[in-house]
Amino acid sequence: MTQESPVVALLRRILDENSGLDEGSVATYIPELAKADPSRFGICLVTADGAVYEVGDTRSEFTIQSISKPFAYALALDELGPDEVLARVGVEPTGDAFNEISLDPGTGMPSNPMINAGAITTTGLVVERHGAESAADLLGVFGGFAGRALRLDEDVYRSERETTHRNRAIAHLLRGSGALRGDPEAALDAYLRQCSVLVDAHDLGVMAATLAADGVNPITGVRVVSRRTVGDVLNVMDSCGMYDSAGDWQFTVGLPAKSGVAGGVIAVVPGRFGIAVFSPPLDRHGNSVRGVAVCRQLSSELDLHPLRSGTHAPSPLRSTSTLAGSGSIRRRPDADLEVIARRGSEVFVAELQGELDFVAAELVVRSILDAEPEPRFAVVDLRHVDVLHPAIAPLVVDLGDLLAARGGGLLVSAAPDQVGDDPIGPSVKRFADLDRALEWCEDHLLGGATTAPRSIALRDHPALAGLSGEAFDRLVPYLEPRAVAPGEALIRRGEPIGGLFLLTSGRLSALVPDPGHPARRAATLVAGMPVGERSLVGAVDGVVDVVADTEAECFALPVERMPRLRAEEPGLVVTLVSNLLSIAAARIDEFSGRPAAVARG
Ligand code: DON
Repeated sequence: MTQESPVVALLRRILDENSGLDEGSVATYIPELAKADPSRFGICLVTADGAVYEVGDTRSEFTIQSISKPFAYALALDELGPDEVLARVGVEPTGDAFNEISLDPGTGMPSNPMINAGAITTTGLVVERHGAESAADLLGVFGGFAGRALRLDEDVYRSERETTHRNRAIAHLLRGSGALRGDPEAALDAYLRQCSVLVDAHDLGVMAATLAADGVNPITGVRVVSRRTVGDVLNVMDSCGMYDSAGDWQFTVGLPAKSGVAGGVIAVVPGRFGIAVFSPPLDRHGNSVRGVAVCRQLSSELDLHPLRSGTHAPSPLRSTSTLAGSGSIRRRPDADLEVIARRGSEVFVAELQGELDFVAAELVVRSILDAEPEPRFAVVDLRHVDVLHPAIAPLVVDLGDLLAARGGGLLVSAAPDQVGDDPIGPSVKRFADLDRALEWCEDHLLGGATTAPRSIALRDHPALAGLSGEAFDRLVPYLEPRAVAPGEALIRRGEPIGGLFLLTSGRLSALVPDPGHPARRAATLVAGMPVGERSLVGAVDGVVDVVADTEAECFALPVERMPRLRAEEPGLVVTLVSNLLSIAAARIDEFSGRPAAVARG
């Protein structure tokens, strides 16, 4: 048996707890709707990244009815822009019933697009542009939100068309007041068709999740409408979506929502998920009784009310440190390491996580500006950041200027790929990863005054310390000089190591793969360091790629020569191995004092 997700179990409990609720009655004003089975009950929750959880009757179809209104409004807004739409339909919550004949006494325009007068006007705007294709085009857009091709319930459409005297009156009044400019019958017909689109709770869950995901359908990955449009749509759903119970809904649920008289309700937790409930019996406002109850329970149990739960956003600061605290992970001469330790507090390092919006950025900027002693450089690592909001741009620019005035600057590493505007301006230094940014800072602190030798003579290589001149001369024939070009690999991960390499000039990086990111550097290798020591104990494969950053030179003791060296020069091998051991031990000591540097990444 496959195990049920705890989220499904939670929804199932909520479904069970509400299934005894048998108040309300199915809509009868459209004769065909009176045939609905009142016992149908389903809940579907779809996350903004596409996880679907559903319980009960989530695959029985019903007509979308008024839940079509926000999606038709989305199409009008997306095509015409808010100015043109707002000139014809307001955004004022009236607290009116859905079918109220409610036009602004001054302008003659309907107050909002969620009640029928506003919705018929919105659809009229679509009809002015799409003509005879309007109903099909609306159906297409709804299908984009749902992630599948939808169709009409012709019986419900005909049934409503024959009885919709009130909506017909509203449409003609709208034409009279100038809110509708074309044929009111055409606007009414497209509106009735859009109300008769067949959906199930699963479809509505995906449609709500598409609004939660800023207009990108999380199942198909297709953008249906713009981010801006979604914000405007959620706004009117928030204030007007539940008609004359909008205030009560705000108080108890607090989420942008929309209901329909066939028993559907959707609610949206922006950026997180969409909820859909289906249960036909309605309250006196025309909202599903169980739909409202389920949304109330979910909002309260899951702490979803935005005004009651918005105070505990996760901290964007994953860790903060300074270069003095973490130290260099690079092999550097002691004198250089001392400089870095002494001046390292000039470099503040913040590893961030999650979503970087204005509130998060304010906290980051404050932690940099409050740091003691005052840093000149701030390295901000975005490896674990998913989204950068455009709103942070002015803070980024000003922080960069402020640090530049201190003689330092702002450095950013591992910035996520940004769709749309990139709030990190061109003045900020960028690095592929934190290690490369820190290396830049270390080099900058050393200011070109590094004591690291660019090259050493083989004779001076620490791996050969203590060898007499004569012993050295006996070793040399076993070694072969080797030049490594930039980008060339001396050792490859998963392939046999060719030998022991004694570096005498240049710089190489030991790289480990990091899925989804550029290869991460585990160490920097310079003249005086041995590489491939493990080959001395026998044939082994590389665990990292060792790739030259610059022209480099080394002396190789190839693995195939080792047996002969061991047989003919055992004393030499003992000295070599003990030197390699003390180099490795010194390295371990160096790192054991710096847990942060080892754990980083
Ligand atoms: O305009 C009408 O009467 C319907 N076809 C749609 C109404 C509706 O769904 C109201 N919402 N609860």
